[in-house]
Amino acid sequence: MSTRQRRLNRLCLPLTILIAFIGGCADLKKSKPILPIREYEKMIVGNLYADYVGTQNCLAACHEHDKLKLSFDASTMGAQLKKESGMPLVDCESCHGPGSLAIKGLTREMVEMNAAKGIKTACDFKTLIDLKNLPATAQSLTCLKCHTVNATFNLHNWNAGLHALNEVSCFDCHDIHAGPDLKVTPLASGRLCFSCHQAAQAQFSLPSHHPLKEGRVFCIDCHNPHGGFADHNLHQDTVKETCVQCHPDKRGPFLYEHADVMDNCANCHSPHGSVNNKLLNAREPFLCLQCHEGHRLNTEEGGSASAERARAFYTRCTDCHSTLHGSDVPSTSGGGRFIR
Ligand code: HEC
Ligand code: HEC
Ligand code: HEC
Ligand code: HEC
Ligand code: HEC
Ligand code: HEC
Ligand code: HEC
Ligand code: HEC
Ligand code: HEC
Repeated sequence: MSTRQRRLNRLCLPLTILIAFIGGCADLKKSKPILPIREYEKMIVGNLYADYVGTQNCLAACHEHDKLKLSFDASTMGAQLKKESGMPLVDCESCHGPGSLAIKGLTREMVEMNAAKGIKTACDFKTLIDLKNLPATAQSLTCLKCHTVNATFNLHNWNAGLHALNEVSCFDCHDIHAGPDLKVTPLASGRLCFSCHQAAQAQFSLPSHHPLKEGRVFCIDCHNPHGGFADHNLHQDTVKETCVQCHPDKRGPFLYEHADVMDNCANCHSPHGSVNNKLLNAREPFLCLQCHEGHRLNTEEGGSASAERARAFYTRCTDCHSTLHGSDVPSTSGGGRFIR
């Protein structure tokens, strides 16, 4: 290799890094800028030249949205009335913005005449807020103007959550017009979550898994879809607290604790699923051998060759150490060896 070639080679790595760096910057530039919240608020004000006309007027001329209106009226949101006026508290324009321009010039007669000719009459929906194409933050603000932290306590960590931070909006999970049920039922949540979290879907299909598909455990038992301060949007502060909700026998405190290993169940278990029995991260004895040495038993009385050979080749440490999650019963030597 000539010196020149060698010098070129030496340049190669820094160059690749530089190019990768510039490439990275270009990507950053492409990603959407984060605007001050005021900017998002402006996007959901609606058309400044339009007036509010009320749901009755919105729908008076045509029946195109009858089914949608029926479902909406039957929903908790649609059923809310203003005490003083008896008028709906939430109506079409609460989200879609003022609608006078959209229905301007539309009359029942015109709609019916068109219908007779087989023509569908649409309102001028381009004058309404383009909810579908708003940035996620603005979409969520549409809902958050009513579902404030005080009104909907469940949402008080929304802004700190990984969904809000990653441009997932309320609309992505709550299909307002799908039917009268605005909430996502636990059973439906699995399908909903899987639509974006394919890795989790794969994990729940592994031979050992929490019975999610069987309908006994749900994503939202462990995760808060509305975000939280805990890692991974967990409902509880820690992994252990999450798990002992349903496995209280593992909560402790025990007289003999398995050190602080037990503070994080994920040290040994994969919460969604695993190829190994009991959701274990690794098979025994390898799971234990990550932190412990294999051992032989005390062979003082009647020490035999077979015990010697057993030195490090136990296959299941838990055959003897069956209370490894913690125990109140001392072992024969008086220590806590997690042997019943
Ligand atoms: C709580 C907020 C909210 C209210 C109240 C509301 N909508 Fe909507 N509407 C939405 C959202 C969100 C979308 C869907 C945007 C998207 O596709 O992402 C939507 C979409 C629509 C669509 C388009 C449907 C489609 O299939 O593309 C129509 C039509 C509509 N709404 C009519 C109405 C009417 C009529 C009312 C009053 C009875 C109403 N909306 C009340 C939030 C609302
Ligand atoms: C104009 C005010 C207003 C707006 C805007 C609004 N909501 Fe609501 N929403 C309410 C009220 C009032 C209720 C009924 C009381 C309650 O359950 O808090 C409600 C109920 C709900 C419920 C059902 C709660 C339950 O326990 O059954 C869901 C889900 C919901 N809203 C989601 C949304 C989403 C998503 C948006 C944005 C597309 C939105 N809301 C926009 C006022 C509003
Ligand atoms: C990742 C999916 C997801 C997103 C995003 C999401 N939700 Fe929800 N939401 C759910 C699920 C699942 C439930 C039902 C389970 C529960 O109560 O935790 C629910 C329940 C609710 C309820 C009824 C329960 C309650 O706390 O009163 C309201 C209201 C609500 N969501 C509003 C919103 C609003 C407003 C937003 C946006 C700021 C939003 N949600 C974003 C999935 C989501
Ligand atoms: C039994 C409780 C439990 C259930 C049910 C559960 N999760 Fe998890 N999930 C966890 C825990 C605990 C972690 C954190 C794991 C860690 O710390 O290594 C996690 C991590 C995650 C992560 C982060 C990436 C990863 O794999 O580490 C995603 C995404 C996730 N869960 C999505 C889901 C979805 C979607 C569902 C429903 C289909 C679901 N989870 C059901 C407990 C659960
Ligand atoms: C519209 C797509 C979408 C839907 C629907 C959705 N998520 Fe997410 N979720 C995301 C994105 C994007 C992120 C952030 C990137 C990531 O970590 O995967 C995220 C992050 C998460 C995390 C944190 C992952 C981590 O690395 O710690 C959890 C947990 C989670 N989602 C659970 C859920 C659950 C439970 C549901 C159903 C109620 C759900 N998601 C529905 C898109 C979605
Ligand atoms: C919502 C309740 C719930 C939560 C929360 C929960 N589990 Fe479970 N867990 C179950 C159910 C139900 C089973 C199945 C029991 C059965 O089939 O007898 C199970 C089974 C298990 C099993 C045995 C699997 C097998 O193959 O026998 C392990 C290990 C386990 N869970 C660990 C955890 C860990 C670790 C966490 C925290 C990340 C956790 N669980 C959180 C409900 C829960
Ligand atoms: C040091 C590793 C380790 C840690 C940490 C750990 N486990 Fe386990 N767990 C195991 C092993 C190994 C088994 C299998 C035992 C067997 O096959 O008899 C098991 C089995 C289980 C089972 C099913 C059998 C039973 O005893 O009910 C549950 C449920 C369980 N663990 C929950 C938890 C919870 C909850 C935590 C956190 C508080 C946790 N584990 C922490 C190693 C661990
Ligand atoms: C993540 C590391 C880790 C894993 C995995 C682990 N342990 Fe431990 N274990 C510890 C620590 C740390 C201690 C406390 C050591 C001490 O106090 O000397 C401990 C203590 C013990 C003790 C009691 C020792 C004593 O001196 O009292 C036994 C027995 C034990 N572990 C068995 C197991 C078995 C069986 C497994 C596999 C199912 C396992 N451990 C998996 C870290 C681990
Ligand atoms: C045939 C039963 C048996 C098997 C299998 C077994 N052990 Fe033990 N283990 C014991 C006994 C008995 C003691 C001593 C108990 C006492 O001192 O009271 C012990 C003690 C220990 C201790 C504490 C050692 C010390 O020096 O204080 C650790 C750590 C341990 N075992 C880990 C393991 C691991 C890891 C495995 C799997 C590779 C395993 N054991 C398999 C029976 C067993």
